[in-house]
Amino acid sequence: MAAGFQAVMDKLKIIGQRALHGTVQASGAKNAALPLMAAALLTAEPVLLHNTPQLMDVRTLSKLLRSLGAQVEQQGDALRIDAAAVDHYEASYDLVKTMRASVLVLGPLLARFGQARVSLPGGCAIGARPVDQHIKGLQALGADIVVEHGYIVARVATPSGRLRGAHITTDMVTVTGTENLMMAAALAEGETLIDNAAREPEVVDLACLLRRMGAQIRGEGTSQIRITGVPRLRGATHRIIPDRIEVGTFLCAALATRGDVTVQGADPAHQDALLDKLREAGAQITTGDDWIRLRADALPAGRPRAVSVRTTEYPGFATDMQAQFMAVNCIADGAARITETIFENRFMHVQELVRLGAQIDIDGHTCVVRGVPQLSGANVMATDLRASAGLVVAALAAEGQTLIDRIYHLDRGYDAMEVKLRALGADIERIKTSPGA
Ligand code: EPZ
Repeated sequence: MAAGFQAVMDKLKIIGQRALHGTVQASGAKNAALPLMAAALLTAEPVLLHNTPQLMDVRTLSKLLRSLGAQVEQQGDALRIDAAAVDHYEASYDLVKTMRASVLVLGPLLARFGQARVSLPGGCAIGARPVDQHIKGLQALGADIVVEHGYIVARVATPSGRLRGAHITTDMVTVTGTENLMMAAALAEGETLIDNAAREPEVVDLACLLRRMGAQIRGEGTSQIRITGVPRLRGATHRIIPDRIEVGTFLCAALATRGDVTVQGADPAHQDALLDKLREAGAQITTGDDWIRLRADALPAGRPRAVSVRTTEYPGFATDMQAQFMAVNCIADGAARITETIFENRFMHVQELVRLGAQIDIDGHTCVVRGVPQLSGANVMATDLRASAGLVVAALAAEGQTLIDRIYHLDRGYDAMEVKLRALGADIERIKTSPGA
């Protein structure tokens, strides 16, 4: 049976109320790996990415890059991408519909080959997630773009056949929009200014790789990124930054189970907003250059304090941590407000948490979570990547058994999560179900 189908049927079985203890190793960041892989399309020389996480999304993008003619192979912990032989410029609906980050090949294909045909991603569980800012920015760089039959059809329409630098101000902060435009501008003629740019560490990591490839980039990590285009880029080797969302997920699990966990290979500098909130909830946190330790085995009230959060763009509290932090608030002492400002439908986990005994009311973009002393295990269903992470955190804290269905969502963005949690003392196992079961 195809692995994909197998994963769709898998479930996670968790027996909760086991405090997590020990040390866990963070994997490379999914949301850095994806743009970094796309950046390899900008050069005919090999790009080597160390610390690549073993994720469904990385496999999906590898398949897409191969369909364009690139060679992609795993060499130990590194992924080697050689785009010398790329001679196709179409990202098909079949691939893009399973991973919207596929849109990240649009900018590099346009910049290097002058053409691209990329399927519109379509909606997703957490919101419409249009790509109009990607299109607007690429048009400003000289691309001729039409949308027809569900595809973005783009070609470079300048006399020289190369994109040309421009001053682009995006209507809102967009992470992959900023990344697409950075990659396109790297090979454009002249200066590009991206204003209202995303400041996420993954954007900074992409700028580091592009610079290693010979790009001239300044201002990454601020809202103004300046790029001076160069005629060509060379291959490079790069180590992917740690996954701050995976790290944050383990820290929330440690707090929710009142444990004592050290996450190795983390970068505390990427976690200020989350660490502040975890401390406010009563966790004791210590950090080093590449590790974060959370102790919650002596909480004053025997449970976390309720803490309100409002998701915003980096360096604010990450929307990708909203579900996991909500799970902690479900068992906290007091009531908290959780406001989601980035996506319009990112509360899919709420009804599933309610099945576990949580008391949550949704009012538009805000939830009020009234902490209960204890959740109780139940059968629940994952609906999207971070919702499923939130359900895992809640199930680890709940009394009794929880079965989480559709955990292929989890596999998209977490590298062997159940193996890592089991090593921390969780009673968790993956149940593979045969077809038709
Ligand atoms: C990136 O998605 C991440 N994915 C998401 O992580 C993350 O939740 C999101 O940034 C916000 O931090 C990757 O990096 C691969 P946006 P992205 O463009 O780039 C609207 C996860 O769980 N918008 O920053 O797609 C959009 O609808 C995933 O790992 C437009 O309207 O997000 C959203 O409301 C989920 N038009 C807001 O902006 C556009 O052209 C921010 O979206 C682009 C975006």
